[in-house]
Amino acid sequence: MYSRIIGTGSYLPAKMLTNFDLEKIVETSNEWIVSRSGIHERHIAADDEVTSDLACQASLRAIEAAGVGLDEIDLIIVATTSPDKIFPSTACILQDKLGIRGGGAAFDIQAVCGGFVFALNTADLYIRAGQAKTALVVGAEVLSRMLDWNDRGTCVLFGDGAGAVVLQASEAPGILAAKLHSDGSYQQLLRVDGNIRHGEIHGDPFIKMEGQAVFKFAVTVLSSVVDEVLDAQGLQGTDIDWLVPHQANIRIIEATAKKLGLSMDNVVVTVAQQGNTSSASIPLALDTAVRDGRIKAGQNILLEAIGGGFTWGAVLLKW
Ligand code: UT7
Repeated sequence: MYSRIIGTGSYLPAKMLTNFDLEKIVETSNEWIVSRSGIHERHIAADDEVTSDLACQASLRAIEAAGVGLDEIDLIIVATTSPDKIFPSTACILQDKLGIRGGGAAFDIQAVCGGFVFALNTADLYIRAGQAKTALVVGAEVLSRMLDWNDRGTCVLFGDGAGAVVLQASEAPGILAAKLHSDGSYQQLLRVDGNIRHGEIHGDPFIKMEGQAVFKFAVTVLSSVVDEVLDAQGLQGTDIDWLVPHQANIRIIEATAKKLGLSMDNVVVTVAQQGNTSSASIPLALDTAVRDGRIKAGQNILLEAIGGGFTWGAVLLKW
């Protein structure tokens, strides 16, 4: 028994913020942002848009592409670090917005930018254990609400968006291998310290990042975790048709591709137009490459991500 992705969908808010717009807000330049990160523009949610709204649009597109009925979905997992509320979970809110009834499990996973691979691995395990048949797995974020627009080291990097996949039980191969890791001893390098007490935010509500240290750690652990999932299947980097990485920085993506021996022609890159959308970036990139016809049946696809925690992981699958 395997689980296979049978439909993808994504959604980006209408508002676009370019590097030139940012030059007017903070002391930065288009040249710096492009050369250090590869980002040209990013989408920003409207004031009245919340994470579950973005998740809902992406999910409807994935469900339509999969051709499944809402009543078939018996598991919803939303990876998010920017939930609508402390509770109920964004997954429960999404379940209600989609009009899915019947009591299938719905819950969030909080692994920051690593969230989508954590959610996909979890859904795969549910399906292979026989506890679900058709899962909706979503990465959705409105990280712009956690940005300090005076901190040029972070505010130029992130964007909002959502991506979703429908994962279904299958006798044909789908997800082949997955490996997740976390190491909380690195929590200071990428964090939002604030918490809510008596209805008020206490502490700092903004993303804080030690960019260079995160960069170095990311390059090291991403190349080792992709080796772990390839080794599990006796495959090599060159057996991969498409690397669909978390989109944080083009230089991290290029370094991972190089270590795999993969040409950038085999890497799906959306960071230029979307920035770092955290847990949404992989399903957004996946949907882009499925809809434009690059990803085809029978191909080997490798997903990898790292996020605050640190959390990191990879998923290898047959399309
Ligand atoms: O998704 C979760 C994981 N997150 C990541 O993977 C992000 C990892 N880190 C990175 O992508 C990179 O470290 C950054 C893009 C954040 C920064 O690139 P960098 O090459 O590591 O630059 P830096 O932080 O070492 O900064 C170099 C210089 C500094 O100036 P000095 O000290 O050399 O005078 C910064 O103050 O660039 C300055 N700087 C900026 N200048 C213009 C920092 N941010 C900006 C900015 N515009 N936006």
